[in-house]
Amino acid sequence: MSTLNFISLFFILFLTFQTPPVLSWKKDEFRNCNQTPFCKRARSRQPAFSSLTAHQVTISDGDLTARLIPKNQTDGQIKPLILSLSIYQDGIARLKIDEDPTLNPPKKRFEVPDVVLPEFESKKLYLQRLSKESIDGDVGPSSVVYLFDSYEAVVRHDPFEVYVRRKGGNSRVLSLNSHGLFDFEQLRVKDEDEDWGERFKGHTDTRPYGPQSISFDVSFYDSDFVYGIPEHATSFALKPTRGPNVEESEPYRLFNLDVFEYIHDSPFGLYGSIPFMLSHGKSGQTSGFFWLNAAEMQIDVLGEGWNAESGILLRSKQKTIDTFWMSEAGIVDTFFFVGPSPKDVVRQYISVTGKPVMPQLFATAYHQCRWNYRDEEDVEQVDSNFDEHDIPYDVLWLDIDHTDGKRYFTWDRVLFPNPEEMQRKLAAKGRHMVTIVDPHIKRDDSYWLHKEATQKGYYVKDATEKDYDGWCWPGSSSYLDMVNPEIRSWWGDKFSYENYAGSTPSLYIWNDMNEPSVFNGPEVTMPRDALHLGSVEHRELHNAYGYYFHMATSDGLVKREHGKDRPFVLSRAFFAGSQRYGAVWTGDNTADWDQLRVSVPMILTLGLTGMTFSGADVGGFFGNPDTELLVRWYQLGAYYPFFRAHAHHDTKRREPWLFGERNTELIRAAIHVRYTLLPYFYTLFREANSTGIPVVRPLWMEFPSDETTFKNDEAFMVGNALLVQGIYTERAKHASVYLPGKESWYDMRTGTAVKGGVTHKLEVSEEYIPAFQRAGTIIPRRDRFRRSSTQMVNDPFTLVVALNSSQAAEGELYVDDGKSFEFLNGAFIHRRFSFSNGQLTSVNVVPTAGKSQFSSDCIIERIILLGYSGGLKGAMIQPANQKTEIERAPLRLQGGHSPAVVTIRKPGVRIADDWTIKFL
Ligand code: NOJ
Repeated sequence: MSTLNFISLFFILFLTFQTPPVLSWKKDEFRNCNQTPFCKRARSRQPAFSSLTAHQVTISDGDLTARLIPKNQTDGQIKPLILSLSIYQDGIARLKIDEDPTLNPPKKRFEVPDVVLPEFESKKLYLQRLSKESIDGDVGPSSVVYLFDSYEAVVRHDPFEVYVRRKGGNSRVLSLNSHGLFDFEQLRVKDEDEDWGERFKGHTDTRPYGPQSISFDVSFYDSDFVYGIPEHATSFALKPTRGPNVEESEPYRLFNLDVFEYIHDSPFGLYGSIPFMLSHGKSGQTSGFFWLNAAEMQIDVLGEGWNAESGILLRSKQKTIDTFWMSEAGIVDTFFFVGPSPKDVVRQYISVTGKPVMPQLFATAYHQCRWNYRDEEDVEQVDSNFDEHDIPYDVLWLDIDHTDGKRYFTWDRVLFPNPEEMQRKLAAKGRHMVTIVDPHIKRDDSYWLHKEATQKGYYVKDATEKDYDGWCWPGSSSYLDMVNPEIRSWWGDKFSYENYAGSTPSLYIWNDMNEPSVFNGPEVTMPRDALHLGSVEHRELHNAYGYYFHMATSDGLVKREHGKDRPFVLSRAFFAGSQRYGAVWTGDNTADWDQLRVSVPMILTLGLTGMTFSGADVGGFFGNPDTELLVRWYQLGAYYPFFRAHAHHDTKRREPWLFGERNTELIRAAIHVRYTLLPYFYTLFREANSTGIPVVRPLWMEFPSDETTFKNDEAFMVGNALLVQGIYTERAKHASVYLPGKESWYDMRTGTAVKGGVTHKLEVSEEYIPAFQRAGTIIPRRDRFRRSSTQMVNDPFTLVVALNSSQAAEGELYVDDGKSFEFLNGAFIHRRFSFSNGQLTSVNVVPTAGKSQFSSDCIIERIILLGYSGGLKGAMIQPANQKTEIERAPLRLQGGHSPAVVTIRKPGVRIADDWTIKFL
């Protein structure tokens, strides 16, 4: 039997039994660097390998341009490379290096389209002046151009190097090729005796264009740590992968893969890739480097002394972290972000790749998922159990088994005979539904979608130009070529209510398996020699496939409502820019404590690299969490930007009420925490949407000079006001919590002030995980519990004012219709609350302009003052000139014995108005 037939038989058997393969992470299924020729070649190079020098450095069309030529050109095949350096507003330099098209390379190399925002181009500065300097006794000159305020970009001619420095000195920020590891394998015609094919586990990659990889070193100055480049299950501060005292390690791999049962501490690449790295150090400064390239990438973080033998003496005395970047194909299209603050770097990156979506309000609340809710009766029971147990939730999810034989956009009509009615029942309680729509299309001639896609020629082709046929949930499947805008538009139309029979306006979408996952493909994905629009090979854009699929689905949902409503699409695969299209989650994690712990660095990393709307499966996807783990996961997950419980179909049912009354109570309390904080989360999502600053952030983003925070990935900030510390061990009685800064922090549960700048060993109970409000902040809450977030929209607010040592505090509240795009036309309420000199004021953050205004009659029902030092007799509300009482009332309305704190009840002020409350 041929291998192919054998594989087919295996999958037929597999489908017959309808049991998906139970696989644990098998390292051997995936290539390591040594088995990946471009990675092996690159890693074997020594510093000073590159002999390129820059020639004809000049200003052309507002950019600095040059030709890169090897110093001792002996090999006629090495053609000059073309370099261009462009400078953009706000501290961004873009360096591109590609082959010279006028020298007729065999093929145009792939440049990733559709990621860089079109409006970014308008921020380009038209360079006029280039000064030449001889730096540090170099024989040849360096060319210097203006970059930003106090920054310059420098191209050193010989040896070729590019760096960013602060003006008036040689204090560097970022550099490329300082160690001479730059290499660019140019496309060429195959020699007769050459074999370009690559084999792995019975798969052959024909590699018709041969070697075309690129690699180079990048150095980050004044840096103690580097972060970013998701997706890996590993620490937040990236550990070195090479160097004298470094344990043998693979580089961090960026290659979107469907990895079953991934392990919790590994540089192995998971479902998504964002080739964006940030550095941070004691100076409190941050810089960033982004390589726009969608081919497989491998990145080494080089430990101190890695190049001790090389003889290269870096002139800089600054503390530096060197990194080494390797990619299988594409071009050099890189961005240098000067910072200097962590938030500046994030803003700079977002100005290139786009702002994170503004989610609908419901999507920021709690989601209940399982593979699978069996049928309509199951859905109804789960839904009513939430009400019975007084637990709010917003979204119920249906996994692949709701479809007719894994044909997406269909329903198994035996199990789900009345999908519209089912959705309407949920919608009546303000709840939503999400169904799964994966990219593999069942190759079934009677399936309308397959018929149409085949007729139109919309599938990705295999190396022989036939429709690519791979195996996934439905069996034999083909994959739409989502890189093609025409196909994306066609796909988007499939979400219209007419095309998606059984869908209603409260139905949203989940895109899974979009790496893409192909069960019988090399490394469980599509072969690299498969072909996309314009004969682009899959290898060139692999990491962006899921991005395009997410984009097409999200655009489809926008179209469905004629541009009125914001879409909600959860995607597993992602790439730089995915933040514009929806949420992501960390895939198939496991129900164990280590995976609970690693969810935090994973989410922090996603947030730093634009993908702030992210979460991990609460409870762990594989395996059965014991009750304590499940409760702890809910307590932590309540602070994830995307808060969803999910489980594999082989696991025991684990809806919140299945573990006895006490545990139901604990889970309910955790979910309630999220619902009370929804106004704060929604305000933070709006901040992320306008600036890119993530909802959940590392401590050092708020305390950039505090070294103690740099490696801390057990605690995180929600916005600038809340610090949360997870509990990651069984039967924990204590937790160590570091509270940064000089000011105090207030325990979220008790309102008690705790000193800042110290690590506290705190007693913990099963009831909560530590969370503290930072002195000097104001958090808006909504304390009444309803069935869903949508039922809270008319509820009043509570303001928790946590005063600092100057008896001052500030905070914001953002409210809009929670659904439409009208906020873009100014239809929102965005208030800034400030407390100082004994009075609290509410003012507009942005005076809204235009016709379309949003209004709300919601009032503030309570103001809680934490840390007020004077005696209080009462308060005067203005402009109404109305006196009100001060009381001592519970910190929280519900949930046990809450201590009494200084409170103004019923100040009666509206969130939409300007007002002042004077404390007397
Ligand atoms: C893999 C996804 O990661 C998981 O969440 C989902 O339940 C299964 N596919 C089935 O669709």
